[in-house]
Amino acid sequence: MITTYPLIKFMGTGDILLFNLPSIFYITKERKTLEYFNQIKEAADYVRANTSDFRPQAGIILGTGLGALVNDIDISNELSYDDIPHFPVSTVETHHGKLILGQLSGRRVVVMQGRFHYYEGYTMREVTFPVRVMKMLGIEALMVSNAAGGLNPSYQISDLMILNDHINLQPANPLTGPNIDELGGRFPDMSEPYRKDWVSQALAIARERNIPAHTGVYAAVTGPNLETPAEYKYLSIIGADAVGMSTVPEIIVARHMNVPAFAVSVITDVCYGEIKEVSVPEIIAAAMKAEPGMTTIIKELLSSM
Ligand code: HPA
Repeated sequence: MITTYPLIKFMGTGDILLFNLPSIFYITKERKTLEYFNQIKEAADYVRANTSDFRPQAGIILGTGLGALVNDIDISNELSYDDIPHFPVSTVETHHGKLILGQLSGRRVVVMQGRFHYYEGYTMREVTFPVRVMKMLGIEALMVSNAAGGLNPSYQISDLMILNDHINLQPANPLTGPNIDELGGRFPDMSEPYRKDWVSQALAIARERNIPAHTGVYAAVTGPNLETPAEYKYLSIIGADAVGMSTVPEIIVARHMNVPAFAVSVITDVCYGEIKEVSVPEIIAAAMKAEPGMTTIIKELLSSM
């Protein structure tokens, strides 16, 4: 009698742990998923309510030093990230933090002037939140630009690289955690991360217009530091042509929602041979030099969609 009493008590506690903890955990996860989905919906509702129900056909994300495309947009609305519910706030000085809606090349576009990076301290869900919102607004294409270091020895500063594939070396993935089935499947396919016909079309546009451009593989790292010479060598050996700190999370989320994607890198520094020190102003200057070519490609691609 003396020995069975504590045993029964112990088993009783065990029962509660065994049956109740997993379901509490499950409910919490479900609630978080629902919360995230509702936040996307609230942000999209806000955008619609403040833009006379603007329905974009394409989403565009502009990278470091690449904001001037906005000058070509016939703008109907500009929304500050600060005002959009649940939108993260940009912390990088070179990024503007505005959502711009209007017409470009005869298409209705929503443009992010300023993006969010993992190195700023955001979670991957925060980094990719705007892409979710864009999809909920109706986009059927995502176009992304970025500044990147050139690993391929044939690349020169201010050349463009049209992404035909990527290698994800960032330590977190925006799709981890409970899947939001309303947005996409648990195991999204990645056999065509960048729509192939857009890649060849973009290259043809570049050739026609004498814009120096290549197609290649982008490696995504966390940053914010640039890479060491050994790291550049490693990235080149594993098959990357350029390296940068963005884009891949947004592309993963777009593909999760079955949105076809296009991305272009501006080569802002070269990372082969003898590695020289590079400053942020140099990176921005190189990006700005390549900007007209990049803008031409995006505009012409848009008009042919
Ligand atoms: N490494 C990572 N990100 C970059 C680089 C680089 O060399 N240049 C511009 N973005």
